[in-house]
Amino acid sequence: METLWDHRYAQRTQRMASSAIRELLKLTDKPDIISFAGGLPAPDVFPVDDFTAACERVLHEQGAQALQYGTTEGYLPLREMIARHTGRYGINITPDNVLITSGSQQALDLIGKVFINRGDRILVEEPTYLGALQAWNAYGAEYVTVPMDEDGMMTEALESALRSGPKFIYVLPNFQNPTGVTLSFERRIKLIELADRYGVPIIEDDPYGQLRYEGEHIKSVVTLDNEFRENGEAGYRGNVIYLSTFSKTLAPGLRLAWVVAPPEVIRKLVQAKQGADLHTSTFTQMVAYEVAHGGFLDRHIWLIRRVYGERRNLMLEAMDEFFPSEVTWTRPQGGLFLWGMMPERLNSAEVLERAIEQNVAFVPGAPFYALGGGGNTMRINFSYASPEKMLIGIERLGKVLHQMVAEK
Ligand SMILES: Cc1ncc(COP(=O)(O)O)c(C=O)c1O
Repeated sequence: METLWDHRYAQRTQRMASSAIRELLKLTDKPDIISFAGGLPAPDVFPVDDFTAACERVLHEQGAQALQYGTTEGYLPLREMIARHTGRYGINITPDNVLITSGSQQALDLIGKVFINRGDRILVEEPTYLGALQAWNAYGAEYVTVPMDEDGMMTEALESALRSGPKFIYVLPNFQNPTGVTLSFERRIKLIELADRYGVPIIEDDPYGQLRYEGEHIKSVVTLDNEFRENGEAGYRGNVIYLSTFSKTLAPGLRLAWVVAPPEVIRKLVQAKQGADLHTSTFTQMVAYEVAHGGFLDRHIWLIRRVYGERRNLMLEAMDEFFPSEVTWTRPQGGLFLWGMMPERLNSAEVLERAIEQNVAFVPGAPFYALGGGGNTMRINFSYASPEKMLIGIERLGKVLHQMVAEK
């Protein structure tokens, strides 16, 4: 329905239309639905007692500072901790390389604000993280896509995509949202070399890198880029902007994440952040630091890995048992999601409608495709539902899929 406000909105809102799938997913809020739709961490692993104690300590010992405005760059002890932590993975950065943001989602938005002119092309994986497309659509981004297989972005298709002159490459190397797929070491090297040759920066979005349940850690693109440049000094000055977050390792409600980038890029992002929110909550940063430092985060990540690893195994076993053979899916080595592929003739929005009637939900894959397509794909989360609910949910979804495969 048209309202008085319609002609007042800025042009950039034209691509903000709420999708049919979003409307469908609203129905998944009912309490009896078993949802594999969200990217939600399991609430039973939130360290509530540790946060309670940390809040008290911060207010008691540093209350005035915690309730005061802070610097845009972020709380220095937290930035130092992130620099130390990043250093363990083989890259020597300083706090000048680090900006604290209100979630990685804000970092994506600030990157859009700082880099994207209307009509600029952004090179993305196909499919890619929907939240990045939402952030960048508002800045008038256009997209060039590179297909993926079980080793991530197919770098043999990257060079021709780079010839179209993209502003930057957006890549999710570890347990990608939405597919769960990991970019192989060889392709990471190829990506860095090609990006360097064509002078195109890389945005590396890595919320899940620490949540690996099998296989060996592969160095991040930012670390490999630093090695490629043979930069022996402290401080990163290369071609990659790296994002990570506390959302999946501590709690998403904190809205706490960070960017690692060359100092001049951090300074530009700081200017953009000043116009957005001045700074991320001082209190939240201090409490998160209080909880995380001194080894807690390592222990906690170990626990999360165990819980989610078990849930992933359980889901894969249940899918083997209950899903029809016409449906295939990825077997992620970490993260929160796997990716289902149905026969072309099936449409996952229709499957979702039927699934909701049976009180089970997932996210249809099409919105993750920047240029359309993917109508027969689905993203399934394995971190949120308890093991008991997961089994019931996968059995229900399997029944729906069997019926729809038979009908169509
Ligand atoms: C790839 C990716 N980037 C960014 C985000 C946003 O994370 P945050 O909670 O830090 O805003 C998510 C959240 O699921 C994600 O999967």
